[in-house]
Amino acid sequence: MKILFLNGPNLNLLGQREPGVYGRTTLPEIEGRVRQRARELGAEVEFRQSNLEGELVTWIQQAKQDFNVIVLNAAAYTHTSVALRDAISAVSLPTIEIHLSNVYSREEFRHKSLIAPVCRGQISGFGAYSYVLALEAAVNVIETEKQP
Ligand code: DQA
Repeated sequence: MKILFLNGPNLNLLGQREPGVYGRTTLPEIEGRVRQRARELGAEVEFRQSNLEGELVTWIQQAKQDFNVIVLNAAAYTHTSVALRDAISAVSLPTIEIHLSNVYSREEFRHKSLIAPVCRGQISGFGAYSYVLALEAAVNVIETEKQP
């Protein structure tokens, strides 16, 4: 059971970036929390971050070989990227969209997600805990789909 966590632009700045919106937890700290829960659930996780849309596209394309589920915080690309949406459709690996903030309580341009229609589901608004919830959801997807 292998889950790939992909993080998009500016998420390397978590902890110092708009802490009123995103909290004070850094991405490595979030990774630590997810790894701890993953150990309890018997799941393997890998965390990556990129500010480059094309790099995220490549990682999605390659994920099919090694991972069962992708958890994707596409950050600003959520609202703009046809390329990420097409990559998710192309690999047909279950993908869970996540956000730290509640994007629907923010500016109107954040209300539209181009990737939501091709994702299995969406978790938004729980801060760093969105990542732990996504891990739980990912494990549930894998276990549910294993059943005959
Ligand atoms: C975000 C929400 C996006 O609208 C924003 O561009 C981000 C972070 C979140 O996790 O809340 O960079 O994906």
